[in-house]
Amino acid sequence: MRIESPILGVPAIALGSTRSAHVIVLANEKGGSGKTTTAMHVIVALLKAGQKVAAIDVDSRQKSLTRYVSNRRIWAKKTGAPLELPEHRAIERVNGKSVDENEAAEFAAFAAAVNEVEPHHDFVVVDTPATDSYLMRLAHAMADTLITPLNDSFVDFDVLASIDPESYEVTGTSHYAEVVREARRQRRMVEEDETDWIVMRNRVGQFETRNGRNVADGLVDLSRRLNYRLSEGFSERVIYRELFPRGLTVLDNLDEKTLGSKPILSHLAARQEVRNLIDGLRLPIDERGRRRAAARAEWYRCAGHPLEGIELLAE
Ligand SMILES: Nc1ncnc2c1ncn2[C@@H]1O[C@H](COP(=O)(O)OP(=O)(O)O)[C@@H](O)[C@H]1O
Ligand SMILES: [Mg+2]
Repeated sequence: MRIESPILGVPAIALGSTRSAHVIVLANEKGGSGKTTTAMHVIVALLKAGQKVAAIDVDSRQKSLTRYVSNRRIWAKKTGAPLELPEHRAIERVNGKSVDENEAAEFAAFAAAVNEVEPHHDFVVVDTPATDSYLMRLAHAMADTLITPLNDSFVDFDVLASIDPESYEVTGTSHYAEVVREARRQRRMVEEDETDWIVMRNRVGQFETRNGRNVADGLVDLSRRLNYRLSEGFSERVIYRELFPRGLTVLDNLDEKTLGSKPILSHLAARQEVRNLIDGLRLPIDERGRRRAAARAEWYRCAGHPLEGIELLAE
């Protein structure tokens, strides 16, 4: 099936067998849930595993992923650190007179970006804004893997479902859950594989609280109804916030020079969390890529630049 553009002269997006890359979409109708932070970590993890990765930033207003990647490029240039970079595309915001025209133009830019990068990459990672638009629905329908990060709070939980205030039992599903259901239905008409939907907890407190437990129990309960897989995700850690200006992730070489202080246990724990997420995604990471990663690590080692974190996924 082809998704036709709402305007003439704009390429359609093919949904189905002509696609080659595995598409990972980060989405949640709620802002600040960790989409961009997770997108960057998934991108770098895949690059370190030797995969060819393209990134598309659909959040044309905030452009956080675009800036994250650009900060990484600048930091690599400045320090000579061997930092892997994805091929990056940002969808520009269109501020025309009518909403329809704007949406159509953004759709056109997205279609062009996907058509351009897909044939040459193993993975396309799409970071999205917290809005419901035609383009967003399309991105959902294209997802082979859909990752929805969720802060550990009932305010975030509400995006997926409502709950009983006394028993905390799920009483009904919310708008965003319907958006995903509809996107999956559309996709089923053209693809054999269903979208693998991962809901991941983010900013989980270091200490277990009653609230945290109730949210976690609710998410397990809901996973059966909505057919998603639940990931333990990331804890609340300063390290996830402080690396953005340098474009780094917890998978990169975090020594004293980079951090300004000695690495601490929390950094290693964060790295393990990312690793667990990636393992849990069960992505089609191929052998060729792993060999590529191993060869590159060896090359960097010989050149005096150990590429720490390369062992991730490459073993
Ligand atoms: N696990 C985490 N621990 C601490 N801070 C986090 C964590 N995940 C995200 N953040 C911070 O939360 C804010 C929102 O994250 P972001 O990835 O930009 O969310 P979104 O893209 O969904 O709007 C940012 O300031 C980010 O640095
Ligand atoms: Mg974002």
